[in-house]
Amino acid sequence: MAEREARPTGPDDENVVWHPHAVTRADRETRNGHRGVVLWFTGLSGSGKSTVAGALEQALHAMGVRTYLLDGDNVRHGLCRDLGFSDDDRRENIRRVGEVAKLMVDAGLVVLTAFISPHRAERQMVREMLGDGQFVEVFVDTPLAICEARDPKGLYKKARAGELRNFTGIDAVYQAPEAADIHLDGEQLVTNLVAQLLDVLRGQAIIKP
Ligand code: ADX
Repeated sequence: MAEREARPTGPDDENVVWHPHAVTRADRETRNGHRGVVLWFTGLSGSGKSTVAGALEQALHAMGVRTYLLDGDNVRHGLCRDLGFSDDDRRENIRRVGEVAKLMVDAGLVVLTAFISPHRAERQMVREMLGDGQFVEVFVDTPLAICEARDPKGLYKKARAGELRNFTGIDAVYQAPEAADIHLDGEQLVTNLVAQLLDVLRGQAIIKP
């Protein structure tokens, strides 16, 4: 890999100036017929984040809404393939995904993200990154015992056996949201949860009634 320059660029670099574009997010939202927003799913591994987000995306897509689903396991195959599960790496994972989601919201999309995102501070960081009304935190609240019984990838078993370290809920923390914008009971049927989410999206005028 090429050696990185010692001094990274960023908003504080006077040689890198933000460049406004003629076609704005508002223009794209008008064309799309709906707002751009991030629906940020958080919850334990096996809580149902990806399943519910995927089912919601299908429903929205069928309604003509422009969507994109960013999923932890998939993003870790590419954009975040260099990151592991230490606190620092999880923070960087969420920062990158937050920045990508922000670009996609600027593109006028309804972005669904499915990351454990176990730390309150990182979810708050993304909320601040996105700005008012553009970050909707969806807590898929499924008890650890249920996630562990489901164990769709066999990872809880490995974590209990000590073969997998830093596993969320076992030997790494999950900080549940204290005031999620949408609180889902992860033991309910996926179809019920999707209906509940669609109601909220209509109520907040994110999609049309
Ligand atoms: S996050 O904590 O950085 O938000 P992310 O959602 O990207 O995590 O990835 C979680 C997925 O990676 C889990 O669903 C699981 O399949 C897998 N995984 C592998 N190792 C771990 C681990 N130590 N802790 C949690 N998930 C892990």
